[in-house]
Amino acid sequence: MDLQLCYNASEDTFPLPRHIKERYGPFGFPAPADARRPYITSNFVMGLDGRASFRELKGRNDGKTVSRSKEDGWLMDFLRAHHDAQLVGASTLREEPNPEGWGWDYGIDDEELRTYRQDTLGLGRQKVLVLSGSGNIDVRLRIFSSPRVEPWIITAREGQENLRSQLKRLGCEETIKTLSVGEGTRVDLAAAAQLLRQEHGIRTLLCEGGPTLYGELLKHQLIDEDFRTMSLQVLGESTKPGIDRPTAYGRVSYTPKTAPWFRMISLHYALPHHAFFRLRYEGPRTFQD
Ligand SMILES: NC(=O)c1ccc[n+]([C@@H]2O[C@H](COP(=O)([O-])OP(=O)(O)OC[C@H]3O[C@@H](n4cnc5c(N)ncnc54)[C@H](OP(=O)(O)O)[C@@H]3O)[C@@H](O)[C@H]2O)c1
Repeated sequence: MDLQLCYNASEDTFPLPRHIKERYGPFGFPAPADARRPYITSNFVMGLDGRASFRELKGRNDGKTVSRSKEDGWLMDFLRAHHDAQLVGASTLREEPNPEGWGWDYGIDDEELRTYRQDTLGLGRQKVLVLSGSGNIDVRLRIFSSPRVEPWIITAREGQENLRSQLKRLGCEETIKTLSVGEGTRVDLAAAAQLLRQEHGIRTLLCEGGPTLYGELLKHQLIDEDFRTMSLQVLGESTKPGIDRPTAYGRVSYTPKTAPWFRMISLHYALPHHAFFRLRYEGPRTFQD
């Protein structure tokens, strides 16, 4: 591993093992501005043009193909280790089959970080929350039976009805927790965030994509920080009409007046192809002109 530290102004609240702190610098979160919901961060890898997926290329549309970096893999585990729960959009789950075809379980691969999470931080098994309005999720995917993670599904009333018969048929009603927040097929993200904090004790939530889910969170001012791996390649436009390659920032649209800014908290790099940004949400800035 060849992670290099360029700049780090993080809070220092976690008891990192010494050799990790020497490499990474301090790590911590600030006191949340809104204590009614979790502190929400996101982690994506993107190319120089901001794109996050070779989406139309089956089997090569995942973040790992954009990343191609063991340092990025380690940082993903590092972030998973420090958060109470992870959040992932249903399309990412549906679209990223992994080589065996049953998807990823979003578990921590690095053994040292897994032990650190469990024993030093006492955060227990990783909770991975899948967000789906439709309830159109195949619960035979790996995430729903992996011993490494505790899967939850956050949905709305119609989605829950769609899921119920599948869960019953496969006998998973007890093992997969489902939360319904909202009418029809739309989840009220602000209400869901409050429920997670107030009813389920989740203080920190890591959004791992995809861009649509991230964009919704940003639109509702529910993003506190972004971890962004910049992979120094250009993905460009889709090779198939009708399937767009999304940018990491999803479907948001701003003007110079409303565009949210982020402040740099840390910058790491791995020569020669990767830079790792940690950015804190500030919101729109005002200028004289
Ligand atoms: N580069 C990276 O780091 C990275 C990371 C993650 C994903 N990706 C890529 O991104 C692509 C997938 O991203 P995506 O933007 O298409 O999808 P996505 O954000 O993963 O999932 C979108 C889905 O989430 C659910 N959802 C989001 N907001 C909702 C709301 N407010 N209420 C109810 N449901 C909501 C809906 O599920 P239902 O359709 O079930 O209602 C929606 O269709 C894939 O190509 C993946 O490989 C890249």
